[in-house]
Parts: sequence; C-alpha cells; structure tokens
Amino acid sequence: MQLKLTLLLTAACSLQALCANAKELLISPPGQPPLPTAQEASTSAAASGLNLTNIQGDILIVDVPSFKAQLKSGIAPLITSTFQLLPNTTDPADLFVNIAFSSSGLSKLGIANPDLGDNNLFQKGQFNGATNLGDLTSNWLPQFAGTSIHGVFLIASDTLDGVSATLSQVQSILGSSISESYRLQGQARPGDQQGHEHFGFMDGISNPAVNGFNTPHPGQALVNPGVILFGESGDPKSRPGSTGWAKDGSFLVFRQLAQRVPEFNKFLLDHAPSEANMTLEENAELLGARMIGRWKSGAPVAMSPLFDNLVIATNAQQNNNFDFSAPSDSSLCPVSSHIRKTNPRADFSKGNFPNHIIRAGIPYGPEVTDAENASNTSSTDPSLDRGLAFVAYQSDIDTGFETLQSDWANDPSFRRGYQYANNAVLQGADPIIGPNGVSRSPAGLDPSNLSGSITIMEDFVVSKGGEYFFSPPISAIQTTLSS
Ligand code: HEM
Repeated sequence: MQLKLTLLLTAACSLQALCANAKELLISPPGQPPLPTAQEASTSAAASGLNLTNIQGDILIVDVPSFKAQLKSGIAPLITSTFQLLPNTTDPADLFVNIAFSSSGLSKLGIANPDLGDNNLFQKGQFNGATNLGDLTSNWLPQFAGTSIHGVFLIASDTLDGVSATLSQVQSILGSSISESYRLQGQARPGDQQGHEHFGFMDGISNPAVNGFNTPHPGQALVNPGVILFGESGDPKSRPGSTGWAKDGSFLVFRQLAQRVPEFNKFLLDHAPSEANMTLEENAELLGARMIGRWKSGAPVAMSPLFDNLVIATNAQQNNNFDFSAPSDSSLCPVSSHIRKTNPRADFSKGNFPNHIIRAGIPYGPEVTDAENASNTSSTDPSLDRGLAFVAYQSDIDTGFETLQSDWANDPSFRRGYQYANNAVLQGADPIIGPNGVSRSPAGLDPSNLSGSITIMEDFVVSKGGEYFFSPPISAIQTTLSS
C-alpha cells in the first residue's frame, strides 16, 4: 500500500519562538501567558486525569506515503509530547516532531469511515467547504485542492540546520514509503518583530487556559480539556474512538493565509481617522489597532484606546484582563475588530462558551522588500509570498474553527440578538480575515464615528488553502495506526 502523505509544513524558527506561537500547550514569550512548570502541570494533570505524555505538542505539515511499518519503530519514538515542552521537564525536547492525518490518510491506515463525529467536515476535507469559509478556490494552491493529502509532519528546532537534520532523519526512516507533496517553511520574524505576525502585531497572546493543565490569567478563558482534546471532560461529542484509540487526540486545522502587507499599510494611511492632536501616522496606527483590537505591541485597545501601552502589553496579568463589557459598544474596542469577532468574551457569557481554539501558527515568508514598500504593492514573485501558517487545535471543527471563521468573522450581522449600543448598525465582516473577493464594511473603526463603517474593497489576507487533520495521541501512533 502506498500512503501518500502531503507534507505541508515548516519550521526553522527558534524553538522559543515556535513555542510562543504554539501558545498555551507550549511556551510563551513576554506578554504571552507563561506555561506551568512540568511539576505544576503534572500535579494538576494528575488531579484531572490528563496524560501529558500522550498529547502531541505541535504540528508541522508534511506529506508522507506508505509508511505504516516505520511508524511504530521509527517515527513514534521521535514524536514530541506536551510534557517534554514544559519548563523544568525531566525529559526536555530540543526539537519537535509531530504528525497528523487527514481523513483520507486515516482511511489508508485502516480507520474505516473516519468522520470522527465531526458533522462530516473532517471527512469531506477543507477544500469541500472552502466556499463556506469565504475562500476563493481560484486562490487555492493546487496541492490543497481535493482530498489527496494524507498527512502532515510538523518539525521544529531552534535552528534551520536542526530542522533540516530532523527532516532528513524522518525521510530516511520512511524512505520511499512516503512522498512529499508540499512543504511550507515557517519562520519567526527577525529582531524586535519576533513573535509578531507580518502586519506587525504581536500574536499568540490570547489562547484559552485548559482546566487541569494551567491556571487562567485575569481575563483568559478557561475551557474544559474536552474543548481541545477528544474524550476528555467537556468534549461536546461522543464519537468513534473518543474513549479508545483517539482519546486525547485533537483536530488540527491548517490554513496557508497569505498577507498583503504593503496594501494593508497603504489602506491604514488612506483611511486614517482624524483624532485631534495625533499625526497621520498615529491615526493610521490607531486604525490598524482598532481593526485587530490590539496595538502592535499586543496591548488591547479595550484597555488603552488611543495610544499603545507597553506596560500592559508585556504583562500577562494585564493584557487579557478585559471583556468588552464596560462599555459594550465600539467606543473602546470595535465590535467588528478581529479579536472581538473571534472571541466575543462577555458579549456572550464571560468566556464560558465552547467555541474556543488553541492557535499555534507561525509566520512564513520573507520580510517586505523596499520595492514592495515603495510601490505599496505585494510582489507576484512566489518567493516573496508571506503570511501566516495558521494552525489551530480543537476537539470539534464545527464548534471551533468553522464557527469562528464562517459564523462569526465572515457574517456581517454577527452578533444577531446581542444588545449593544447602536444595535441597528450592521457591524460588518472581520476586517482582517473576512471573506475573500467581496467588499467588507466593518463598523465602528473610527472612534469619532461609531455608527459609520469603512468599506474595504480588497483582501489583506488571502486564503491559499489548507486541510483538516487529526493529531492522534502518541499511543495511537504506537498501536492502532501502525498495526
Ligand atoms: C493572517 C491571518 C491572521 C492574522 C494576521 C491574525 C492576527 C491576530 C492577532 C494580531 C491577534 C491578537 C493577538 C492574540 O490575541 O494572540 C489575533 C488573535 C486571535 N485570532 Fe487571529 N489572525 C489571523 C487569522 C485568524 C484566523 C483564521 C482565526 C480563526 C478563524 C483567528 C482567530 C483568532 C483568535 C481566536 C484570537 C484570540 C482572540 C482573543 O482571545 O482575544 N485568527 N489574531
């Protein structure tokens, strides 16, 4: 049997930076909530029954084929567990190797009808639902079109050489049993931009804490482990394998999201508000901050509405300590902003809702060139493509990523029924990740005209495709999937 695994992946960043991007399950830089030490995590996990050595730490996408025989003896020992990534662990990892499988990949490995209880989203694959996600399939890379990808490897190290060496090791173990269909190399941005995505905003600040694993910082959502992991407390579904081989696995959503940075920057200048006593550049920064909901440093506009605040930004005890409730209109943070669309906090129920994901993406591609900056236009040279290798974990794709993208970010009328000031105003689609190819009119971006909207005629983030994967527990790699 030839198993065709598509390798979609990347790594080549510092381990610290990748962990930072991997959020809660991994590490955190200044301003991002720190992880518990291995001892703390073990204590709380023991109390809750979580097995931290059986949860994959992160994933990088790779294509791999027919390798079942090598999976158990060669690959399983390389897989990095969450426990190995914690501070003070007794079993530290200096690299990551994780693997996840698409529905067609699991079928190849003998898992019949692998819908895994996810309303067919996983089984049909991401391409099948691309239009519902707001994608233009004409923008999709051909490798993602269809269901031909069987799996993905995530490989990371603190050096590019480390990634290359690990990839060579994996290739040599799997030999001709795999075929690589695609590779995406992630890269933490350089210098003071480390931890920032390509538009310049600090990323990886807000992920939910997981009950039994870490303690939430002020304002941080606390979710039951079953919101992220199969078969744990709070898993909304009873599904095939969730009490057996698939327990502690997680759905991994991958998206390659290109970012048109010069166009974004020009838009901010062209549509800058006119706040008094602020320069054009400061007003442009303000518009960008209100589109995201945070300043470039990571400070939330809900806490610092007109100017950036490095003290709040770098303090994990403060930088999530807001819930949009006082006031609940768009005066501090626009209802249409990216972070309020994707995590409405008290607009719903004080964070106590199941629609949470753990994001673990990393930037890819080079910095903007002088020529691109000068022309305000992204190059069409594929080697200059840049963006976010978006990775998110959840136990239910429908409740998690799909709700955030399709029902919240893309829907101009979200939130229906929610009573905020100016309820009559259509709040508009997410100005960052709203649907491609249609104009978006997010409201409230100008603090002096909260009922007005700004029409955005172009896409700053372009989906180039992706796939849904299942990241299995390590025990399944050692047994069910390799026998
Ligand atoms: C290139 C595309 C994207 C960019 C540039 C981007 C950027 C950001 C930034 C700068 C933040 C604030 C930092 C933080 O809280 O960690 C953030 C938060 C977040 N993003 Fe995105 N993002 C992108 C795509 C997505 C997608 C596709 C989703 C899901 C459909 C998503 C969901 C979230 C969530 C849930 C948060 C945290 C909100 C909170 O808890 O306050 N993002 N994003």
